[in-house]
Amino acid sequence: MIAPVPEFTTIQTHFAGQEIAPLAARFGTPLYLYDVGRIAQRIEDLAAFDVVRYAQKACSNLAILDRVRRAGAVVDAVSFGEIRRALAAGFSPRGDDDRPAGIVYTADIFDRESLDLVVEHGIHVNCGSPDMIDQLGERRPGAEVTLRINPGFGHGHSQKTNTGGEQSKHGIWHEQVDDCLLRADRHGVTVTGVHMHIGSGTDLEHLSQVCQAMERTVATIGRTVTTISSGGGLPVPYKSDESFIDLQRYFELWDAARNRISDSLGHRVTLEIEPGRYLVAEAGCLVAEVRAVKRMGGNLFYLLDAGFNDLARPAMYGSHHPIALSPRDGSDHDRPEVDAIVGGPLCESGDIFTQQEGGFVCSRPLPIAQVGDYLLLGNAGAYGFAMSSNYNSKTRAAEVMIEDGQVKLIRSRETFDDLVRGELIPE
Ligand code: LLP
Repeated sequence: MIAPVPEFTTIQTHFAGQEIAPLAARFGTPLYLYDVGRIAQRIEDLAAFDVVRYAQKACSNLAILDRVRRAGAVVDAVSFGEIRRALAAGFSPRGDDDRPAGIVYTADIFDRESLDLVVEHGIHVNCGSPDMIDQLGERRPGAEVTLRINPGFGHGHSQKTNTGGEQSKHGIWHEQVDDCLLRADRHGVTVTGVHMHIGSGTDLEHLSQVCQAMERTVATIGRTVTTISSGGGLPVPYKSDESFIDLQRYFELWDAARNRISDSLGHRVTLEIEPGRYLVAEAGCLVAEVRAVKRMGGNLFYLLDAGFNDLARPAMYGSHHPIALSPRDGSDHDRPEVDAIVGGPLCESGDIFTQQEGGFVCSRPLPIAQVGDYLLLGNAGAYGFAMSSNYNSKTRAAEVMIEDGQVKLIRSRETFDDLVRGELIPE
């Protein structure tokens, strides 16, 4: 059963049962808030899959990883840093007959550091390029690997999040599986898994096409395959007219494909799913303070203390995030609405939260705001803090989680010292 989307109203005084204004005053803004209970619910929604492997690139704070682990999911890592995070959050690299590997390294390259770490900890690798098979095989002959296959098509909420087809750099081209098997043989490497991830924020129609491609690839590889992964990509609604996909139907399609594969191979095959966005998007919101309200000809601008350094998705993909006003005095009286453009503090015209793909600025009906009020950018838990940066020498936001009615700081706001750590002024 999918839990409903949290209400996002134009005036919102609370998040996850907590009053926003006192939290903003206590921790400062910009501030990321996470509702941990909602992450656990989303993991539960996917319980029909044998393994839920969280794509931590969506939100990789150690406390979030720890709670994801406690909720029964395992994790995917795309870099040295993500492997280190997973280890620090208590995921055990190796699996055994009953348990899946706690960490899988999924990438299109090994940089030298990540190859060393993978070898040191015996971490399972999902190879996104044929070269990775040789590079791992030379260091760990006899390894078991997964192949990430690009099935020749893909789809995402933006062209930038489409990871399939000839224009994508991701995965091993579906016609090169035989070549990969030869490479694997040369090093005594065994292909035990097949993985396909066609894009992020896609839809049921495209996702379901992957099942057939999976069956074809497994047929080429044969009986060494014990695990298949349907990848991530599950969309979440960002606008009121959008909805979740029919998860039951999605599972049934994959379960049927898995059963056919199991029958053809003569052993049961494990079915993994690898969501990022679905687990954490609605669980997070970004709280920012309104610092200027000004007119430019016919346009009204609300300028916040958060910019695309804090939440890059609107500037990068034209993504829509729900926006609510949280009055500084905590009152929830209705206010008249005006059309406003919402932007941040950065010295760049594209630092606008209300824009469409291509950089076209647009306004949105929002309650009248004053300097000192807070705005909440909703559905910011996935690819929010994780994509934040220090552009314009801004320090990154604090992160706070709300769990069982308790408020817990999980990342301190960066300081100037954090900002310049490692910088040197030579004599
Ligand atoms: N597995 C692989 C191999 C991936 O590359 C990704 C996402 C996922 C799983 C998780 O996909 P999800 O379930 O979150 O759709 N920054 C973009 C999204 C980039 C996704 C990159 N890979 C955004 O903010 O929309």
